[in-house]
Amino acid sequence: MRRAEPAVSPDLSLIPLWSGWLEREGIAIDAALDRILPPASLAPKRLHRALRYAVFPGGKRVRPAMAVLGYRSAGGRGKVAADLGAAIELIHTFSLIHDDLPCMDDDDFRRGRLSTHRKFGEAIAVLAGDALQVLAFEVMSTLPVSAELRLDVLHEITAAVGTFGVIGGQVDDLESEGKKISEALLRRMHARKTAALLRASLVSGAILNGVEAAHRAELARFGDEFGLLFQVVDDILNEVGPYAALGRRRGGDRAKGKATYPSILGAAKSRDRLRGLVQSSRRSIPARRRGVVTPDLYEGLVQTVVGRLPVDWSGPALA
Ligand code: IPE
Ligand code: IPE
Ligand code: MG
Ligand code: MG
Repeated sequence: MRRAEPAVSPDLSLIPLWSGWLEREGIAIDAALDRILPPASLAPKRLHRALRYAVFPGGKRVRPAMAVLGYRSAGGRGKVAADLGAAIELIHTFSLIHDDLPCMDDDDFRRGRLSTHRKFGEAIAVLAGDALQVLAFEVMSTLPVSAELRLDVLHEITAAVGTFGVIGGQVDDLESEGKKISEALLRRMHARKTAALLRASLVSGAILNGVEAAHRAELARFGDEFGLLFQVVDDILNEVGPYAALGRRRGGDRAKGKATYPSILGAAKSRDRLRGLVQSSRRSIPARRRGVVTPDLYEGLVQTVVGRLPVDWSGPALA
């Protein structure tokens, strides 16, 4: 893509706030993942090794962090959200394992190493995805909160993963390959395949501590805008990102004829939409400080995600 934008320094000042917070909360999230996943020494060993391979060391852990963020912002002080976050990360990992399969995106690499099916074979990769998803629901169905809150969490997450969420969005994605789809369909696809689970992560965390309706709606609004922003950044990164940010070679989406913001709208409009989504995400940040959760923490999350882009993209977007 053309690099036409004049140099503007991105405002990345709050990234350390997010990364410090994630580092602190991430310890409990990774401990929960380790406790929940079966040991690789237990049969079927190959499957259990594949589960752990896909989950550790893992990626950015954005969804579990957002679940804990939602919980804390609803006044939660305990550790229960780490288990919910871990369950959501298992669902996310299932979606990535399947996303990389030859019948889907056919990607040999993820996070800088072989994708799960390239390492363990397709059959184990399919079953590993299945196993992660049911394990996630087992964990969520036994969260130590009231049955009412547990059901609310389960409903929030199933809706985000189902045919109007991740899975439906993945179908839109596959059916759009090689087509010049409308911007409205592109946005719907992103809302389903990516934003739905990010939003549900934040909202379900808050549900765990019995969030009130007004704050729940506020969190859902931020989750929607931020979720779209997240996938637009992913689309742009796929074309211009350095290997370190991508964990695989750039250009894969273009080679497969994927419908993405750059391929459907071109560079100039993608820049415009990126900037627009940064603004709408910022506008939807809950304004009031709630316990440890400040508006700056959300801004740190936005900067962290957009800051993954090269400066000629992140600069104008975050300025
Ligand atoms: C990648 O998600 C797939 C998308 C929905 C864009 P992430 O960018 O959160 O992947 P990891 O978990 O950090 O690797
Ligand atoms: C993945 O979208 C969305 C999922 C629900 C897994 P992509 O196919 O764009 O994500 P990456 O770039 O492979 O991580
Ligand atoms: Mg895909
Ligand atoms: Mg993919």
